[in-house]
Amino acid sequence: MRSRSGNLPAEVTSFVGRLRESAELVRVVRKAPLVTLTGVGGVGKTRLALRVAKLTRGLFADGVWLVELSHLRDPHLLPHTVTAALGVATVSTGPPLEILADYLRHKRLLLVLDTCEHVVDACAELVKHLNDAAPDLVVIATSRRPLGLPQELQYPIQPLPGDDALALLAARAPENAHTPDAPLLCRRLEGIPLAIELAAVRLRTLSAAQIVERLDDRFHLLLGGQGSPERHQTLLTAIGWSHELCEPLERLLWARLSVFVGEFDLEAAQTVCADRSLGQDRVEGLLRELVAKSIVTALPAGRFVQLDTLREYGASWLRRLGEEGLMRLAHRDYFLGLARQFNAEWFGPDQPAWCGRMRRELPNLRAAIELCLSDTAEQDLGLDLVANLGYLWMAGGYNAEGRHHLARALALADNPPASVRHALWVGAWLANFQGDLDDADELATECVTRALPAGDHVAAGWGVSCSAITAIYLGRIHESLALYRRAEELHAQYTQPEAGLSYALLGQAFTLLQLGRSKEAQEILARQRRLSAARGEVWLDSYGDWIRSLIELDHGNAAEADKYARDALWVKQRLFDALGMGTSLTNLAASAAQLGDSERAARLLGILALVEHTYGLRLNVSQLQVLRKRTERDITALIGHGSFATAYMDGFSMTIEEAIRYALGAK
Ligand SMILES: Nc1ncnc2c1ncn2[C@@H]1O[C@H](COP(=O)(O)OP(=O)(O)O)[C@@H](O)[C@H]1O
Ligand SMILES: [Mg+2]
Repeated sequence: MRSRSGNLPAEVTSFVGRLRESAELVRVVRKAPLVTLTGVGGVGKTRLALRVAKLTRGLFADGVWLVELSHLRDPHLLPHTVTAALGVATVSTGPPLEILADYLRHKRLLLVLDTCEHVVDACAELVKHLNDAAPDLVVIATSRRPLGLPQELQYPIQPLPGDDALALLAARAPENAHTPDAPLLCRRLEGIPLAIELAAVRLRTLSAAQIVERLDDRFHLLLGGQGSPERHQTLLTAIGWSHELCEPLERLLWARLSVFVGEFDLEAAQTVCADRSLGQDRVEGLLRELVAKSIVTALPAGRFVQLDTLREYGASWLRRLGEEGLMRLAHRDYFLGLARQFNAEWFGPDQPAWCGRMRRELPNLRAAIELCLSDTAEQDLGLDLVANLGYLWMAGGYNAEGRHHLARALALADNPPASVRHALWVGAWLANFQGDLDDADELATECVTRALPAGDHVAAGWGVSCSAITAIYLGRIHESLALYRRAEELHAQYTQPEAGLSYALLGQAFTLLQLGRSKEAQEILARQRRLSAARGEVWLDSYGDWIRSLIELDHGNAAEADKYARDALWVKQRLFDALGMGTSLTNLAASAAQLGDSERAARLLGILALVEHTYGLRLNVSQLQVLRKRTERDITALIGHGSFATAYMDGFSMTIEEAIRYALGAK
């Protein structure tokens, strides 16, 4: 669940020193729209930025948010990456940067853009646009180079001064750091935190003096006995030395792990990194060793991550081994396999788990997509990958990003026809829910035109359903009903259970209800439920509950309507489905009003606004707008504007977690 307070990761190690910098930056952040922490790799830019974000959380009503950019390869994806990190659902139309600017316009929010140096121009453009649009937005960037904007305050980060460096060494090696040579070691490492952390591992087996001696030898080698090393050389030397002290297989795994962007789990590491020279059964043990040596960081829930600098070192080693291409293919194959499995299993019992997993894997999935789309030899798999992620784009609110990838992949030649058909209907769906009806219509029509002669009933059915959605938006309810019926016929020709049939039935139920034929709608819903229930599927099924709730509202059965809307909301919040949360909340508010609980109804309308505000959602289905307006009118007539506003603001000021708990809780 996205909360409004932000997404800062928990600190896994203690924080040391930086009192002056923290105090200055806390002050700066109150006034400056953009401050960039600059400095060499490993000096502590990221750590300090997160620290400042944590210290200033109270200043930002809309939260403090971290966006990690180290793994971003395609600068065009920058707005999508920020949008995804903020949990903004891109279900309204327009370029992603505009959606983002709109979302931030009236927010008091701190954005930490971490590791901008390799996409510095894109970052500058983004921040310029966002700072212009959103006067209360504050950005902290970390970058080895400044962004070069006029409003930018550059804040160079120096290494840790002597005492703090020593404190860090002591914190990382509490048993072994209290020796007379420890200060010398810290000086030799020039107070660079990452170098100190790596050396701390060595203190288990060597004395500080011995480490200094060996480092000196290496500097000598490096500089041919001339002068003193530059700061980045100090760090590289420390890393290089750690590298040398790893076992050969640990080094190999370190290099191969660099192919992951962001986090990864053991299974992925075992599948991608193992081969004849590195057995799959060895990976777990080696990974633990790398964690013990501070090369890899263990995260909660069995996940792992590497600091950029260490990952880069591994990447350069991988290049030297000549394995980069192979590893990137192995990485792509793994995530393609995962995407195919996700698509195959989506219409089944594990939707909440799949949703959570695929969200976490987005950086890796993006890298796999990028590989496919930028390498002509791999292009035919790109569309396959992007299309197989269709339900992620659809259910996860990633409309804009999904459309971006689909359009790019579709534009390439030689795509397998089945992938094209799949991509076309996913694209049509996403376009519909962004309100781009022309695009949706074009894609849906092309999908059907190609799918029918090919006998691809699933794609044809979805294509027709997408045209039916467009028809609803245009108010052509009869036409929509006919289209959904046609979609049902098409899906029924395919004998495997799949989501399309369930969706075509839902569409019919919704349109029948609009036509006042609620009895037929209920019968159709019963069929839909049997289908979804047989597979343990909940995403579509909960839309069924939402329609049931609409029917009960129509009949004046508020208690029933309330129950169905709660059931729907329960599922939607587990799937992080913002659109679904909004639709369920609209019904919940209407039910509360019908039940005579005006205060709860007003609070729920406030919560609905909160969900829209938090996820950048706009509920543009006219049937819902009508219901919402009517609820608001009815309760203000009963309790007056003042009480309405108080209860509404009550709801709006909750955290998302409180709000959902309240909405689902006792009446
Ligand atoms: N003030 C600090 N206290 C404790 N650990 C720190 C501090 N500064 C940096 N570190 C640690 O040093 C390593 C490198 O810091 P990081 O912020 O990633 O550097 P950068 O972003 O400049 O490359 C990380 O493991 C980080 O946790
Ligand atoms: Mg960093």
